[in-house]
Amino acid sequence: MSTITVTPIAGSLGAELRGVDLRTMDNHAWAQVHQAFLDHKVIAIRDQDLGAQDMMDVGARFGEPNHYPFVKGLDGFPFLFDVIKEPSEKRNFGGGWHSDTTYLKTPPMATLLYALETPPKGGDTLYCDMVAAYESLSERMKQLLGGLNGVFSAGLKNSGGRSLHHAQIGAMKVTAGETADTYEAVHPVVRTIEETGQKAIYCSKVHTTHFEGMTGDESHPLIEWLVAHATRPEFTCRVSWKPGTLTVWDNRRTMHNAINDYQGLRRHMRRLTSGPTVPA
Ligand SMILES: [Fe+2]
Repeated sequence: MSTITVTPIAGSLGAELRGVDLRTMDNHAWAQVHQAFLDHKVIAIRDQDLGAQDMMDVGARFGEPNHYPFVKGLDGFPFLFDVIKEPSEKRNFGGGWHSDTTYLKTPPMATLLYALETPPKGGDTLYCDMVAAYESLSERMKQLLGGLNGVFSAGLKNSGGRSLHHAQIGAMKVTAGETADTYEAVHPVVRTIEETGQKAIYCSKVHTTHFEGMTGDESHPLIEWLVAHATRPEFTCRVSWKPGTLTVWDNRRTMHNAINDYQGLRRHMRRLTSGPTVPA
């Protein structure tokens, strides 16, 4: 029987896990990891040594792999891709508050991000709790949001479109640049989490262009306010990476923001998204 230590890293969400080797974990250990994921929404699992196949195996515990349309996968592992920022690059991947690939019809339940090389300082990731943000709303606002669907688009990011954005991140192998801006999906702005019954706000400035049936001008003030509300400090946590840290976050109940504060330094992560789910 393994003993896994689960230590919360902030008041609202996030925990650090130690004392588990994900390569050899048995079903009992997995049950503890999964429970920590359900309890804390973001889990930073320290001191791992994961190859590509190991990461696929861990991801399979969370669900089927999701395809990421805009970056070429690793040779032999099309669902895995490396997120690299070279010392010479200025822009980073994953900046701005968002949940992953919400412009897909079936966005991933979980994202797994594994640190291979981290800068000596900086490069943390912020997370926010979309359940706590929802629960703190007035009843009238909850009713209002409960009647809305959001239109989510891949083309919104960085105003020049996603293809342009990715073209400026030189170390990553970009694919499908021509069609990147055509991915779009409609999802409820309040979604219910199957396992917990919790409700969460599902909306971001990075992907949500407008609310269905409303204009962009009508939608933007509320989108802006929801993101400002959800990212209040008391709804956030912050993961500081070390090589060997695997962080798994729940895209249904959180947003994240990769901090770009390590100019001139190299950061190399590996990503997998798992559990394609229709938001409801
Ligand atoms: Fe992301």
